[in-house]
Amino acid sequence: MHIVDLITKKRDGFALTKEEITYIIKGYTKGIIPDYQMSAFLMAVYFQQMNHEEATYLALAMRDSGDIIDLSAIEGIKVDKHSTGGVGDKVTLILGPLLASLGAKVAKMSGRGLGHTGGTIDKLESIPGYQVEVDIHDFIQQVETLGVAIVGQSGDVAPADKKIYALRDVTATIDSIPLIAASIMSKKLASGTDAICLDVKVGHGAFMKEEKDAEELAKLMVEIGTLAGKKMTAILTGMDEPLGHKIGNGLEVYEAIETLQGKGPQDLVEVTFVIGEQLLMDAGLAKDQSEARKMLEKTIADGSAFNKFAELVAAQGGDTSYLFDKEKLISKKTAFVKASKSGYITDINALDIGKAAGRLGAGRETMADVIYPEVGVDLHVKIGDKVEKDDVIATLYIRDKGVGEAIKLIEHAVIIGKEKKTVTLIKKTIG
Ligand code: URA
Repeated sequence: MHIVDLITKKRDGFALTKEEITYIIKGYTKGIIPDYQMSAFLMAVYFQQMNHEEATYLALAMRDSGDIIDLSAIEGIKVDKHSTGGVGDKVTLILGPLLASLGAKVAKMSGRGLGHTGGTIDKLESIPGYQVEVDIHDFIQQVETLGVAIVGQSGDVAPADKKIYALRDVTATIDSIPLIAASIMSKKLASGTDAICLDVKVGHGAFMKEEKDAEELAKLMVEIGTLAGKKMTAILTGMDEPLGHKIGNGLEVYEAIETLQGKGPQDLVEVTFVIGEQLLMDAGLAKDQSEARKMLEKTIADGSAFNKFAELVAAQGGDTSYLFDKEKLISKKTAFVKASKSGYITDINALDIGKAAGRLGAGRETMADVIYPEVGVDLHVKIGDKVEKDDVIATLYIRDKGVGEAIKLIEHAVIIGKEKKTVTLIKKTIG
């Protein structure tokens, strides 16, 4: 086989075989195929797409490029969720302990944030001492004994994806449905869980701006996972405005604590519960959605879910005093954004709100950037809310940079109009 022939074949719109795709992934991971040929191949995929079979072979070849975590020593059905990335998405922080408090086994490997979207690992690191790098044996043991572990990517999971993702990032080939599906699923399949619920975000704060693209991506990922023997569901949820109110690492832990204590914002609670219901049913812990919802409500109301979060933080070395005195998670220095006129909130550009938090120091443009855990945005309004001129619509928790820019971005992102508008949060379930 010759890489130039395979690039040509894809460039001309033909489907590649399993052997050909495996050859490309193995060759690139080992460094035999250079970046310039892989870039050409990725661009050919970007323009010519891949059919579902090719995307599945790609995901499997990328999964097989490194370690596959064996969770079979843990009794029961191991569950996992994955979000395609949005602004203010702190669902994992809430759902992990919530499900574990109901007897599920949650084995979660999460990522860091890049660009305007946050990452669970950065959020957890805003709790001093919380260890995200956990030895794989300790990870398995913690899932077994505590029911939940949330760690960074451990072991050598899908190294082909690490290399390819970095190349896609600099060759304008990120937003390709087969490449995104294979990238996400290679890591999910390698991490060893039995049931996976994908939260596929759609809207201007998400990778997928259009519902039809989000649905295509969701269907493809469900198909790849199902073929690999996993119980799969994908839920399309709205990212037309940030999820919840708080954006920024410490602020999102703050809001996760509030939610675990029964005081969470309605949209955040709803997305968490819908995914939670699905995973409780997949794990055989609830017979239907209505039973699952009652279980989720009860474990929050009686304090078990919050206690499990405290146990999780303690097990991974975090200072639990931050959970009981959550003001320590956020900066004492603040600034405010006010409404420019009276009316209804008709749009909130989640992407710009994410960028505003980034300018304050909550995110990074390159992996080398340092994050300030205590900064971010507390957005007091949602689409459909009524505001009067000069009402405070956002509080910024700040340090020493980006305040003017962040204020401008938020003023630009929050649109005030005359008509009351509503948005659909839970759009569709696939699988
Ligand atoms: N998340 C991933 O892990 N990979 C992609 O390609 C996009 C989002």
